[in-house]
Amino acid sequence: MEWFNELPDDVATVYHNIFRRRDVRREFSGEVIDRDMLMRVLEAAHAAPSVGLTQPWDFHIVQDPARLAEFAQHVGQCRDDFAAKLDGERKDTFNPIRIEGIEAAGTGIVVTYDPTRGGTNILGRDTIADTGLMSVALAIQNLWLAATAEGIGMGWVSFYKEEFLADFIGVEAPVRPVGWLCLGPVTHLAKERDLEAFGWRKGLPLDAVVHWDIADSVAND
Ligand SMILES: Cc1cc2nc3c(=O)[nH]c(=O)nc-3n(C[C@H](O)[C@H](O)[C@H](O)COP(=O)(O)O)c2cc1C
Repeated sequence: MEWFNELPDDVATVYHNIFRRRDVRREFSGEVIDRDMLMRVLEAAHAAPSVGLTQPWDFHIVQDPARLAEFAQHVGQCRDDFAAKLDGERKDTFNPIRIEGIEAAGTGIVVTYDPTRGGTNILGRDTIADTGLMSVALAIQNLWLAATAEGIGMGWVSFYKEEFLADFIGVEAPVRPVGWLCLGPVTHLAKERDLEAFGWRKGLPLDAVVHWDIADSVAND
């Protein structure tokens, strides 16, 4: 039994979906997400926190199979370019790993960042420009968790050239594509992360990333 199941149901459900979420490439069923469900997960994305309440994201939905195939071809080229940089064990480990489910997902969502949204003097972005991009990443995570709760798979694809994707959806600088999200019904969500299952990299334990800065008297308790 997972530790969160001892918590009240509504709390446990949140943890359950956080831990159940997977980056999906291989499990798409080939069906297309229901439109109402798509709008629900977009609504969840649009509810994300954003620096200065700028909501600097846009969502471009791609569902035409010919367009999905065109983008998949570009991603295939970028995958090959990456593979060509690997040697020996890394190359052999990488080869069988799928890095996208663009066509199988049936829906691509290109999330873009518009740094001009909200005008000048954005509250909270004055000293840290990246807070705009961070806000977009939070919208993506909201979408990912909502999709997981709906039993829908999502995979984030970043094997592309940014100029290619900007042209593909017809946006111009300073607007930037931030990610291509493959979204669609799945047969199941894998228990294990793909990169661990294929031996590419192991996740770190929590202890390795939590750093305490507390009074000695508290630390020694
Ligand atoms: C910003 C970002 C970009 C990513 N790009 C890719 C990608 O191009 N292809 C891919 O297969 N997975 C991609 N992923 C998924 C990660 O590989 C995945 O999140 C990680 O291995 C952990 O697995 P999990 O999401 O199932 O927990 C990306 C994830 C993030 C957050």
